[in-house]
Amino acid sequence: MKIVNKIVLGLVVVGSLTAVSANGAEVFNKCIACHGKTAEKKALGKSQIIKGWETSKVVTALKGYKEGTYGGAMKAVMKGQVMSLSDSQIEDVAKFIEMQK
Ligand code: HEC
Repeated sequence: MKIVNKIVLGLVVVGSLTAVSANGAEVFNKCIACHGKTAEKKALGKSQIIKGWETSKVVTALKGYKEGTYGGAMKAVMKGQVMSLSDSQIEDVAKFIEMQK
């Protein structure tokens, strides 16, 4: 019985981890055109390559674009991308970007 409980618990944990990355991947779908499938490109030839950036660094950038406190010459482009994202979607997509190898 105890073993069964552990298996069930294990499945729940694995299940929720998958859900996070799936959400992040879903959000990232709309970033691919500019940043590349694994975030490996300079968006529009201008952005830094964000692939593998730490989650916190991506979150800071995205929230900053939303609030107008971060970015370079083309920050208006990114503002349009992140305005409709919730904080949890920003977290999810940031985790997804950090996971890209
Ligand atoms: C229309 C093209 C386009 C799309 C779509 C787009 N981006 Fe960007 N992104 C850019 C550009 C251009 C920059 C550089 C903006 C600037 O000057 O600060 C940038 C910058 C960034 C940066 C900061 C990198 C840096 O140079 O400081 C992050 C992080 C980022 N984008 C994430 C995303 C995420 C996540 C999405 C999807 C929700 C997304 N972008 C969608 C064009 C795009």
